Amino acid sequence: MERTFVAIKPDGVKRGLIGELVNRFERKGYKIIGMKLLIPTVAQVEEHYKEHIGKPFYPTLLKYLTSGPIVAMAIEGVNVIHGVRQIVGATNPDNADVGTIRADYAQIMSQNIVHASDSVESGNREINVWFNENEIFDNWKTVSQMLIEEQQK
Ligand code: CMP
Repeated sequence: MERTFVAIKPDGVKRGLIGELVNRFERKGYKIIGMKLLIPTVAQVEEHYKEHIGKPFYPTLLKYLTSGPIVAMAIEGVNVIHGVRQIVGATNPDNADVGTIRADYAQIMSQNIVHASDSVESGNREINVWFNENEIFDNWKTVSQMLIEEQQK
């Protein structure tokens, strides 16, 4: 089991896509173990995107992320880092495969609807940026988790 951090960015929330986007992850059988609506602080965005500070697009990214509420999610599943990035599509919507979130809903890289962690380490780090320990609820089983465990017996 891996964990990933996913954010529905302000444009996704403003366009009324929360339900549609959450559905993409739930229907795969992934387990949402943390979820909240919040307006990011500058400090949170700096911590989350610290490897991008100083890059030419960072000021636009900071302005975009702090422009309204986001939905922050911690999601658990088998190979969830890779699986969620497949569902989300390439960072630049121009390069995203048809049927992915970014191909379906975005046109430009600076407003690409969602964020998803790029590695197990990033996933764990990013979950800690956005969630306290008492905001993570993992002590229950999804149907797909039960099926996977049954198969492993
Ligand atoms: P995300 O996957 O959240 O990771 C970093 C974000 O920075 C990325 O999605 C884009 O929203 C944004 N980003 C990355 N590269 C660029 C770029 N060259 N121009 C504009 N925005 C970018």
